[in-house]
Amino acid sequence: MVVAIDGPAGSGKSTIAELLARRLELKDGRRFVYINSGKLYRALTLACQRQGVDVSDNEAAVDVARSVRLEYRDSTVFLDGVDVGPLLHGDEIDRAVSRLSSNVPVRHMVNALIKEMALRRDVIVEGRDMTTVVFPDAEARFYLDASEDSRARRRFGQGMSSLSLEEIRRSIAERDRMDRNKPEGSLKVAGGVTYIDTSYLTVNEVYERLEKIIRLKG
Ligand code: DC
Repeated sequence: MVVAIDGPAGSGKSTIAELLARRLELKDGRRFVYINSGKLYRALTLACQRQGVDVSDNEAAVDVARSVRLEYRDSTVFLDGVDVGPLLHGDEIDRAVSRLSSNVPVRHMVNALIKEMALRRDVIVEGRDMTTVVFPDAEARFYLDASEDSRARRRFGQGMSSLSLEEIRRSIAERDRMDRNKPEGSLKVAGGVTYIDTSYLTVNEVYERLEKIIRLKG
């Protein structure tokens, strides 16, 4: 079974997807593997930065993506065999990742990797184009949303950024703008998805809504 979740930064996708993978058991004891597609774009952004490549240079960024071994195991990302998970959420990566993720050949590489991981497995995948481009036929498809203010407050509360609340709000707004205007895989609410505004819901309330629907479909 494929569960696909899309939505903007800070809408709660990762928290909910991780919880579902940890808690939810399908009828015959099967469990979900969780795939956070944003981490793959973040790891490739890190690879560009390490090789001194500007993510705006599309051809050079594609060369970097081809030159590294990118793997996703145990909910973390490995670059050339090394776990880079803890390095993916700094401000530098936040600033550059939208640009890198608008690179169409890079998107095709990431999508192929995700599809391969989903073969013969039950997966929960989250990102921006999981419900539209990568798994438009997923058994369960969700779009999680939240107001810009509550998303900025959540990110600020995570304590991973050195920016002020207002700076985070601006950076989220800028990322939204880029994510919604990509040539391919742009963020949008697809027809047929379950849309949930999480601004005034607790994590448990969101979890329960998704769980109920996934159980019905799976
Ligand atoms: O979910 P996140 O904030 O970690 O994603 C990082 C960036 O990657 C974000 O700017 C959107 C982009 N992204 C994308 O374009 N497509 C995806 N499937 C996942 C993330």
